[in-house]
Amino acid sequence: MTATAATTATTSTELDLVDLSPAIDRFRRDVIGALSRAPQRELPTQYLYDDRGSALFDRICELPEYYPTRTELAIMDRDAAAMAEAIGPGALIIEYGSGSSVKTRRLLEELRDAAGCVLVDISRDHLLRSAESLASCFPEVEILPVCADFTAPFDVPEPRVAARRRVVYFPGSTIGNFLPSQATRLLSQMAAQVGPGGGLLIGTDLRKDPAVLEAAYNDAQGVTAEFNLNLLRRINRELGANFELDGWRHQAIYDQELGRIEMLLVSGRAQVVEVGGQRFAFAAGESIRTEYSHKYAIDEFHRMARQAGFSAVKVWTDPKPLFAVHLLERA
Ligand code: AVJ
Repeated sequence: MTATAATTATTSTELDLVDLSPAIDRFRRDVIGALSRAPQRELPTQYLYDDRGSALFDRICELPEYYPTRTELAIMDRDAAAMAEAIGPGALIIEYGSGSSVKTRRLLEELRDAAGCVLVDISRDHLLRSAESLASCFPEVEILPVCADFTAPFDVPEPRVAARRRVVYFPGSTIGNFLPSQATRLLSQMAAQVGPGGGLLIGTDLRKDPAVLEAAYNDAQGVTAEFNLNLLRRINRELGANFELDGWRHQAIYDQELGRIEMLLVSGRAQVVEVGGQRFAFAAGESIRTEYSHKYAIDEFHRMARQAGFSAVKVWTDPKPLFAVHLLERA
């Protein structure tokens, strides 16, 4: 099922890494394809997370305007014990997009006899750092890092101890990055991966006051802008492109009807950019979309999950509520 041949590497603490990270030609192909799209050009969202992008995202999570991370963490602090209880003993946790795995810690602290914890992330260095740190905090839990783009099917490594069930953990409302049709497909992939009786614990951002949302994605310190513009820096560095950074500005707008934030890079002037030997002309004011962030009401999300073969078990929210953590089960 894997798209690329797996190689293994060994880290300083002797964890085996399964390296399925996409090659540079795949990156070039994806970027050129997305920049060729009409009428709205786009860039693939997952590429925002190179090492610098991941570090900038960690800074976004600390911003006063950016409520999702701290709200989800507060829900984990309050309810991780109830989540672990509902998941049951002997589970293999498969964390999608592990990042720095702070929320996973909360869960592992409460789970009894987890069979293991698979960490899946596209950013290799980030992945290895959090895998090593989790392994030293939870010596009794087998940590299995997998460097992969989780939007395509990948093989889940088997833990030494047989798991009683598989449970995908997908925190951070990253599901919101996908269009509803793609999100449903990804949920179906997870349903296939966990098998009958398997579970999905997933964080989703809720619909709310547009002013709160716009502030969260247009922070006063400009960290989100730097995160967005970093994608152009990365394309310049890795693909030898010539985006002039001062010719672009960050914009995030909320579409209330569709319940989603769109993050854009707006061209400040008429300009031509060369990427991988191809030239792309931009008019002043023309934009490249870099990210969607969909917000779902609880019942809206349940409807989508049902289409992918999951039924709702329980949902935990903060008091406002701004954010939801759902436990779903495959029939
Ligand atoms: C990591 C996808 C959840 O959509 O809120 C934060 C990414 N982009 N600020 C989000 C992000 C701009 C974030 N997710």
